[in-house]
Amino acid sequence: MNELVSLHLEDQVAVVTISNPPVNALSPGVPEGLQRSIAEAAADPAALAIVVIGAGRTFIAGADIREFGKVVSGEKPRRSLLPLLLEIEDCAKPVIMAIHGTAFGGGLEVAMAGHYRVIAPSAQVGQPEVKLGIIPGAAGTQRLPRLAGVAKAVEMCAFGEPVGAREALALGIADAVIDGDLLAGAIAFAREAAGRPHPKTRERQQKLRDADPALFDRARQQAAKTRRGQLAPLAAIDAVESATRLPFDAGCAREAELFDRCLYSTQSKALIHAFFAERGVSKIPGIPKDTPVFEIRRAAVIGAGTMGGGITMNYANAGIPVIVKETSQEALDRGMAIIRKNYASSVKKGKLLQAAMDQRLSLITPQLTYDGFDQADIIAEAVFEGMALKKQVFAEIDAIARPGCILASNTSYLDIDEIASATHRPEMVVGHHYFSPANVMRLLEIVRGKATGNAVLATSMALAKKLNKIGVLAGNARGFIGNRMLTPYLREAQFLVEEGASVEDVNQALYDFGMAMGPLAMSDLAGLDVGWRIRKEFKHLEKPGVRVPLVADRLCEMGRFGQKTGRGWSRYDENRQPSPDPETAALIEQGAREAGIERRAITPEEIVDRCLFALVNEGAHVLGEGIALRAADIDVVYLNGYAFPAWRGGPMFYADTVGLKTVLARMEEFRLRASKFGSGDDLWSPAPLLQRLAETGGTFTNFDRQKEVAAGV
Ligand code: 3HC
Ligand code: NAI
Repeated sequence: MNELVSLHLEDQVAVVTISNPPVNALSPGVPEGLQRSIAEAAADPAALAIVVIGAGRTFIAGADIREFGKVVSGEKPRRSLLPLLLEIEDCAKPVIMAIHGTAFGGGLEVAMAGHYRVIAPSAQVGQPEVKLGIIPGAAGTQRLPRLAGVAKAVEMCAFGEPVGAREALALGIADAVIDGDLLAGAIAFAREAAGRPHPKTRERQQKLRDADPALFDRARQQAAKTRRGQLAPLAAIDAVESATRLPFDAGCAREAELFDRCLYSTQSKALIHAFFAERGVSKIPGIPKDTPVFEIRRAAVIGAGTMGGGITMNYANAGIPVIVKETSQEALDRGMAIIRKNYASSVKKGKLLQAAMDQRLSLITPQLTYDGFDQADIIAEAVFEGMALKKQVFAEIDAIARPGCILASNTSYLDIDEIASATHRPEMVVGHHYFSPANVMRLLEIVRGKATGNAVLATSMALAKKLNKIGVLAGNARGFIGNRMLTPYLREAQFLVEEGASVEDVNQALYDFGMAMGPLAMSDLAGLDVGWRIRKEFKHLEKPGVRVPLVADRLCEMGRFGQKTGRGWSRYDENRQPSPDPETAALIEQGAREAGIERRAITPEEIVDRCLFALVNEGAHVLGEGIALRAADIDVVYLNGYAFPAWRGGPMFYADTVGLKTVLARMEEFRLRASKFGSGDDLWSPAPLLQRLAETGGTFTNFDRQKEVAAGV
């Protein structure tokens, strides 16, 4: 025993308690403590049976994910949990696993080695390892099919979704659901089980025999579709399949082989990076965890357009009453109709109960006036993008809002400080930049103006969580983090079509890389008019002589705004299915001819590298200038706001995996090529941070700006 695992006797039952906050991960010391406690309890004549339970909020949430990196780097040997689990299963006294919170990954694997599992009604069990790019590594793929059946085991191991307590009971993963005190229930269960022969999961065969052999191929096809490009889901299916073909020990050996293959893959490093990156974003240097936050009880939204409608839904979904204001009844009705349609579609798909829809709608007050705005704790502005209008709106709300009310703008590109200057309370002004559709996308960029108060930022972070978003702090630069980086990415996509690639080539290359859609398809989805309006707003900042894309403005002048008008870079049918548009192709060729661009064949590799390294280079500027706190924050922005493939870890992590020296060398090739158009230096000069890290063998992931600032670098 050690301080991580304790043992006491209660009612002739040995109670083994794991206490490794916050989530009782199987960190070094925990498996050892478990082993010693079980052995001691087994040897104690006063103990009839053994209950294993987690202290605090959960049972065991899995292996300690921080340890994987140490194993892969060779710093630590890989320790298998299998011998411990066999010892538990072979214990002469019945071992009852008492589950609350989550029994995930190694946690469920420990639980399945017990003879019985009792579970609290709110608990969940699952094998989410695939989300980290690995598979269960302690016989999860062998014991779960024996308990839950092969089909369910494939589903849980390959797709990673957990099941709740009632389903776990129905499946045979759990033996009883305990309402009320879990430990008392577990002890009562243990006393009854004592003296009876107790089942070993690994000896169960019945559910393995019932398996439909075709289910594995069906699962592989599903994984190819919904987990495109990922290794782990396929490995998990292979591992469960071997449970049906091999004896338990050989199945475990096969699982271990597949586990190692996944663990040492770049994909798992990337997904583990993404796991910690998402949990790191809310930690803001200089804003301690206990910074007081404002309570958000009532909200108001200005503008019921594309974004305002989604933002309104976010508040209603979180149970916060919200007023939404428009300038005309027509716009208000249109906005509310879309909100209703969105909710109704969730009800139709079975994702929302009708009563919940009605309740959420009842929290929304649509109106044309500022009535009630003086009661709001936050006012979120989502009117058209234009500085004059934003300033006018902020001056109006400044006159109405109560002291302590947060004033948030959803601007995509505009200067938060200038917007704040229209108020007498710049410390209360902040950017809350949602991503479209705002009620779906999880990213929220929280933009810090020069006067924004710490309490406003801390509240914004807490609010993001409440709205089920991931809040990422961004500095006040044009386009903040995400959109600023997107500009050169989209620029290269357009240059590539001018130089000889087709629209389809560009989209396909980035889709094959793993993006949810190609850059030009994304522009068509977002609406080409959005960028057009922004280009007009910032026209005065364009540097003369620097190459700019030729065709996007022309498409907009022709009224081709993308999917919403049926034509943009591509043509769209009534189901929004794209097809190549010869008119676009002709326009591109004509533009290239007029600009004297010689068209040539372009490889998918060049397409990917040019688009991504342009993105990464801008990311290096963003990081070097302190607009993002950490490279990982940029990755979180791209994973959650732009559907960058999580198994690549995000753009900055991806660049690290390519190697910054390689990135730099490739950029130099592109600089030389772009020099033909007179813009090599302007478009492809490496960001100083990228240059420095490449020269010193550093990585974005390990770059710590705070440390450098503190050291006066
Ligand atoms: N290892 C190490 N740290 C972990 C961890 C784990 N398995 N699970 C969570 N943590 C840490 C988080 O990083 C976070 O740390 P922080 O406070 O310093 O940021 C803290 O615990 C709390 O986590 P969350 O913020 O995520 O808390 P939530 O309450 O929102 O969620 C959870 C809890 C559902 C358990 C969620 O953390 C989770 O899904 N964890 C991962 C579970 C998992 O993937 N388990 C499988 C691991 S791999 C494995 O077991 C291999 C085996 O087969 C051998
Ligand atoms: P939109 O055109 O769909 O909606 C704007 C709405 O604001 C219109 O319904 C308009 O009637 C209303 N409005 C204008 N002035 C108003 C006023 N004084 N009071 C009340 N309502 C007023 O525009 P969208 O796309 O929703 O954009 C809104 C803001 O969100 C812009 O700043 C935009 O840059 C930003 N944004 C847009 C994203 C997108 O993908 N569309 C993504 C992220 C941010």
